[in-house]
Amino acid sequence: MKNQTIENEAGERRFQGHMSEEYLIVMQGIPHLADMDRRVQEAIIGYRDCEKTGQPLKVLEVGCGPGRATAKIIASRPGLNLVAIDSEPKLAVQARRYLSEAVDDGILSIVEADALVYLQASPDNHFDIVIEVLCLHNLELNYRNQVLQEIYRTLKPGGLFIAADKFPPDDPVMFSKLLQDHIGLFVDGIAPSGRFDLLKEVVLHELADFSPERIMKEQESLQILMNLGFQNCRFIFRRNFDCVFLTNK
Ligand SMILES: C[S@@+](CC[C@H](N)C(=O)[O-])C[C@H]1O[C@@H](n2cnc3c(N)ncnc32)[C@H](O)[C@@H]1O
Repeated sequence: MKNQTIENEAGERRFQGHMSEEYLIVMQGIPHLADMDRRVQEAIIGYRDCEKTGQPLKVLEVGCGPGRATAKIIASRPGLNLVAIDSEPKLAVQARRYLSEAVDDGILSIVEADALVYLQASPDNHFDIVIEVLCLHNLELNYRNQVLQEIYRTLKPGGLFIAADKFPPDDPVMFSKLLQDHIGLFVDGIAPSGRFDLLKEVVLHELADFSPERIMKEQESLQILMNLGFQNCRFIFRRNFDCVFLTNK
């Protein structure tokens, strides 16, 4: 299943344009990304396998993109069996190229698949850890809620869900202040490349992330997760909108 493709009919594809070709330039707009990655790594290192089977931990990464965070996940601890999925073919190809060694070593499978389709085909109580880095905020609310429900179902009891993502505050005054900082960082990060076409695409994409049918507000999201049965919800990092959030089934 190293290079599997699963038919993608459920979600939208918001990364078909320049953003997938110039991904590393886009990431210049998130200067604290390395800090977020480090927190994700610490959470993986700190995870204690309740079952103590001695088997590799089963880990799923949703929305791996070109494999940037995937590489950090692999490096965090030995004994992982990681499946990384992404619905955008161009990005799955980049990830396969970038992480070919881990794929050849059998540590990593990269699957081109829609998140909901893949999760729905996965068994109950299957994964030790599910991770998403900057993926779920892209999804429309109803679709995202179904994905979260499936993440809960497919995690083992006690399993860990790590969301390193944008969780804007529910307070509108705070939101509008942070939005200015947020867009400013993308302008500062992308403008030096001279790619103003890309900058425009990114700014429009970012603004669409905060539309009413998509915005992943902090408190609202916490409530949704707790209603699904997630426990011990905690934010362990915040910079502007970007957070690292942990919770257990
Ligand atoms: C901002 S990128 C983040 C990529 C990577 N996690 C990182 O940190 O660099 C969001 C990724 O989520 C993927 N994605 C968006 N919707 C998806 C879906 N419904 N199913 C699977 N992947 C999805 C996109 O194709 C894109 O690669």
